[in-house]
Order: sequence, then structure tokens, then C-alpha cells
Amino acid sequence: MSEKQITVTSPLLPNLDEFNEMLKDIWASKWVTNMGQFHKQLEQALCDYLKVPYISLFTNGTLPLLTALQALRITGEVITTPYSFVATTHSIWWNGCRPVFVDIEEETCGIDPDKIEAAITPKTTAIMPVHCYGKPVKMKRIQEIADKYGLKVIYDAAHAFGVEVDGESVLNAGDMSTLSFHATKVYNTLEGGALVTHDEQTKKRIDYLKNFGFAGETEVVAPGINSKVDEVRCAYGLLNLMQVDQAIAKRQKVAQKYREALRNVPGIRFFDDMPGVRHNYSYFPIFINAEEYGKTRDELYFEMREKNVLGRRYFYPLISSFSTYRSLPSATTENLPVATKIANEVICLPMHHELTEKDIERIIGLIKK
Ligand SMILES: Cc1ncc(COP(=O)(O)O)c(C=O)c1O
Repeated sequence: MSEKQITVTSPLLPNLDEFNEMLKDIWASKWVTNMGQFHKQLEQALCDYLKVPYISLFTNGTLPLLTALQALRITGEVITTPYSFVATTHSIWWNGCRPVFVDIEEETCGIDPDKIEAAITPKTTAIMPVHCYGKPVKMKRIQEIADKYGLKVIYDAAHAFGVEVDGESVLNAGDMSTLSFHATKVYNTLEGGALVTHDEQTKKRIDYLKNFGFAGETEVVAPGINSKVDEVRCAYGLLNLMQVDQAIAKRQKVAQKYREALRNVPGIRFFDDMPGVRHNYSYFPIFINAEEYGKTRDELYFEMREKNVLGRRYFYPLISSFSTYRSLPSATTENLPVATKIANEVICLPMHHELTEKDIERIIGLIKK
């Protein structure tokens, strides 16, 4: 009989009795959506937890990306990386802009600031970096370039819930940052997301845009979309926020165990904590040098699957290799050597708050075999 399946992630779920109590309130009020009391409470609670001034909730992590580009009236070309989830690049395409891929750096798996300037043309209007795996990219360098060329910066911070550098949230960098609260994320509202803004006026505009563009009962100020979050998910989100620190602490322990066990395995590389950074341990990627390890990434990945341990080749294939984007001039392998290498080396190991010592031993045993 095969051993129990170990999944790459597991959703953080609120206590069902507590959730039921909140559902009773919603049922009693009959105010089920359209910015109700739990919606207001969750936006405030997230501002406090994340140390950001303004947040707007969305129904997923893709719509805030689309809306950020709309709100900032981004046109022409947008610089981004191919080492991300497809939604990052799709949001650029859906806004009628052209994605321009810039390579990543090995150190963070985020955009390489040294390669940004060469990709800027007169049509460039924005940079969309990704805090991949929640590892902060080089925000200061990126901002310097953006300021020099008059570009906007929209961070895809889908992975960076609660991540801080020297006590400051990474979400306060750039013009806006987006979050995903999908069930696979450190903090989830089943499906969900948010857009972080830095001033009241911009928050107001975002709130219009996510509500069809309505600025009042009879006035529509922009071609908005519907991304209003219902009360049920906001209640769920309020409960989950209370236990997210505990979940992050458990993930940190898992990361420590992986690091201790894998530190001296030839051909396996992983990230250590960065100085001054509060990490969220959202993922634990390992990178396999096939020559030194004696096996390719795919050999290990499928061996693990065979034994019911589900890692994830995240992010493989590169976004630039998908049919929609592969003909773009910036999508070539020559332009993206680091991203291409990393995409062929990576496996994200199972990482969540419910992994047991036994699970971790089983996973490590397969890698060390
Ligand atoms: C980097 C990144 N950006 C955007 C998204 C989109 O978020 P959602 O799935 O909530 O729409 C994800 C989700 O996996 C992601 O990983």
C-alpha cells in the first residue's frame, strides 16, 4: 500500500464553530455583499497587520493587477519577468500593453535591476516586478531606475503577505502592490486578493474601479470591473488573520528542518533567510544541479510523485515560453539565461502549517536517497 499523500500546500482553515457564529451574523443582517461590516473590518485589520495605510479587497489576486494598471493608465510597454505565475504577464496583456521580459537574478529569483535599463524604450511606462516566493526584490534600485525614466512601479506581491525589510512592509514600495489570498497562499480567503495603495485619493479610485466604476449612486467615472468581496469570505478572512502568525511560525520550523537536513547535500541549493527580513516561508524552493546531484530535477520530481510526495515545479515552464508570449522579442532564451536555468532546476517542496516531523523526514529521505 502506498504511503499517505503529502501535498505541496494545505489551506489554513478557520475554526468551523467560530465561522458559524459569524455566518449567523451575516444571515441575521442579510447584508451579504457590497462592502458590508466584515468587509470594512477586514480592510482595517489587514492595514493594521500589514502596516500599510490603505488596502482594497478583491475577489482574487489577478484582478488587482489588472486594476492597478488601469488606475495608473499604463500604456505601451511594461517590463516584467517571465519567472512568475502567468497572471502577472496576463494582466499586462489584458490592458492592451506589451510585456517586455527582463531576466531574474539567482539571489532572489526577482527581476535583475542591472538588466532593466537596457529593456527601456520610449514606449515603456511601467515596471512590474514580482517578490517571488516572498523574497523581497531590490526595491531601492528599481525605484531609482523608475524615477530616472519616469516609470510607474507595480509590485506583484502575491507571495509577500507580511514580508518586511527592516521593520517596513515591502507593500509600501513603488506605486502599488497586489496580494493574492488564494487557498494555496500563506494567508487565504479561499479566493481573494488585495491592492495596497499609499494615499486616500488612490484608494478611492481603486474602490470605484472594482465596483464597475461607480463613484456614487448614479455616477460612473471609469469602465470598472466587478471585484467586490462578499461578507462570507470577509468573515473567513478575519478569522484566518488571527491565526496566520501561528501558521507562519510553523512554516518557519519546517524551513529550518529542511535547511538542516539539506545543507550538505551536493547539488542542492536553497535560500537562507535574508538579514533584516521578516519572511513568511510561503514556499521552500530547492534548485538542483543535475551534474553534482546525480539526477535531473525532473527525475527527482517524478520519483517524489511516485512515492506520493507532491512537490511543484514552480515556476516552470517560463511564462515567456507559452504560445501567447513566445514570439515577443524579449522572450528568447538568450535574453533570459538565468530564468531559463532556474526554471529547469526548481522544485518547491511541500510547505505548510500541517506538515509533521514524519512527513518532513519522508520528504528529506527521498531527496537524500
Ligand atoms: C505571483 C502571482 N501573481 C498573481 C497570482 C494570481 O493570484 P490569484 O490566483 O489569486 O488570482 C498568483 C497566484 O498564484 C501568483 O502566484
